Amino acid sequence: LFAAPVDFLKGVVAMSGMPPADRVEVCFAGRSNVGKSSLINALTNRKNLARASNTPGRTQEINFFTTTGGPYLVDLPGYGFAEAPVPVVKKWQDLLKAYLSGRVNLRRAFVLIDARHGVKKVDDEILTLLDRSAVTFQVVLTKADKISRTEREAVLEQVKGALAKHPAAHPELVVTSSEKGEGIDVLRTIITTLE
Ligand code: GTP
Ligand code: MG
Repeated sequence: LFAAPVDFLKGVVAMSGMPPADRVEVCFAGRSNVGKSSLINALTNRKNLARASNTPGRTQEINFFTTTGGPYLVDLPGYGFAEAPVPVVKKWQDLLKAYLSGRVNLRRAFVLIDARHGVKKVDDEILTLLDRSAVTFQVVLTKADKISRTEREAVLEQVKGALAKHPAAHPELVVTSSEKGEGIDVLRTIITTLE
């Protein structure tokens, strides 16, 4: 699936613009700047397929990417970014919530959590939304290259504790670094085996 090129299909700003739900899809959700776009680039072996940036709030649309014979990969706008004008933030949040709760072919949501920070309140709200929508989600820790072994153990415990109250949580956590390549193959395999 990841051996063939992954292509950008479209960026969507409203539910009405979604491509037809004619295949399964997986999405990448997470706080602004957590590394969603970088992870998609690492998975697809492309430097700048999904635009990654130092500026939080870079991804402002729901971006769809097509794989050959596999699911859509969906890059979501980040949440928890308060520096954009309030109406703009509200519009993204509403779109994000509509997508996460209303997309019928959404097979799994990968919720990215910064390995330095663990699960924050704003993450927990998204996890609750996914529980209510019965969307299986799986936590992916990002930027693992930035923490020590000891910090890694601590954050894994914190995340497991936070997931205990979420029925839609997949039990397996994936630890990644888009920078160093850690966990990227594991995630590719998970996505490839979903149907
Ligand atoms: P928004 O679209 O704004 O919500 O951000 P995003 O979640 O798509 O994050 P993005 O991929 O743009 O990455 C944000 C910043 O984190 C960039 O400066 C990346 O280079 C950096 N980054 C992403 N992944 C990693 C990683 O695995 N390790 C390190 N060290 N930095 C990373
Ligand atoms: Mg992004």
